[in-house]
Amino acid sequence: MAQVISKKTIPIYPEGSHLGVIIMTTAVSIHSHKGGSGKTLVTMNLAAYLVKQGFRVAIIDMDLSAPSLQTYAPGRTEKKINDYLLESADPKDVFFDGTYLVGDDAPGKLFVGLANTSGAAIAKINQRNQDALLNDLYLMMELVRNVLPSEPFETDFIIIDTSPGLTTHAINGVAITDHVIMVLRLVNADAGGTRQFLETLYQSVQPEASLIINQVAPHILEAGGAEKITDLVNSQIINTLPPGNVKLAGILVNDPSVITNEFNYALSKQTSEGQLPRPIHLIDPNSQSFSLKFSAIIEDIIGV
Ligand SMILES: Nc1ncnc2c1ncn2[C@@H]1O[C@H](COP(=O)(O)OP(=O)(O)OP(=O)(O)O)[C@@H](O)[C@H]1O
Ligand SMILES: [Mg+2]
Repeated sequence: MAQVISKKTIPIYPEGSHLGVIIMTTAVSIHSHKGGSGKTLVTMNLAAYLVKQGFRVAIIDMDLSAPSLQTYAPGRTEKKINDYLLESADPKDVFFDGTYLVGDDAPGKLFVGLANTSGAAIAKINQRNQDALLNDLYLMMELVRNVLPSEPFETDFIIIDTSPGLTTHAINGVAITDHVIMVLRLVNADAGGTRQFLETLYQSVQPEASLIINQVAPHILEAGGAEKITDLVNSQIINTLPPGNVKLAGILVNDPSVITNEFNYALSKQTSEGQLPRPIHLIDPNSQSFSLKFSAIIEDIIGV
């Protein structure tokens, strides 16, 4: 396997493995201070990128208060992450083979763990007390460090889509991963919030962090905005944190083909009978410029 992401990638000895058999599984969380910055889009497109490279990947919707990963895989009836956390459901009944979402001929494998979208389930999750939240942390750690690296999943990468802000589930989701990708827009207190989040995080754990500045207006980049954005991110976020842990991975524009694809998807939901899946832009021939830029950023972060 090619060299991967993080010097802190943890060798895992899964239960039942022979001594000396090391499975290297890298856990990545996707987080942002404000909502709507592109976390779920990055989660799914990053997963598609890795599956296309031949890796075995699991994605987990930990945005338990406002799930959205299910939009990529409508009509699934498996148990949910909520059932694993609250009812001790077997992860084999939660994670389904979603490789078909990337393409039946994709060389890797995609396992998908969705969250429950019902109001009752969300209310239940939001009423969890401190003890229950600690139990959730333990169960997530077990999932990421033991269950998903082992048979039948044997994942190379685990990607956790989180909820925005400083919710306990989001902080826990980030804390148990090797690498956090922070997706932010340079509006709406996002830079300050990102700095604050990383500052808080680095008081206890030190996952490496990559920043993706997303949804920048194309005309700003065309007018030489990249340099100004880099300076701003350096001065407001990176240089204020312990050196070496955080880097700017790249800048994505508010891409017209992505906007068009997502708009067509929204329209199709209203008009067609069966629900279409949300488009994965990385594998969409109409989104080549997004796909190229996104792949370059991911290559820079992951190293494959
Ligand atoms: N680079 C981009 N170009 C165009 N549109 C984008 C881009 N990135 C994200 N979007 C759009 O922004 C919206 C929000 O994206 P997404 O749902 O991935 O954000 P999120 O951070 O997961 O949101 P939430 O906090 O609600 O979970 C979507 O409609 C998505 O298509
Ligand atoms: Mg989301």
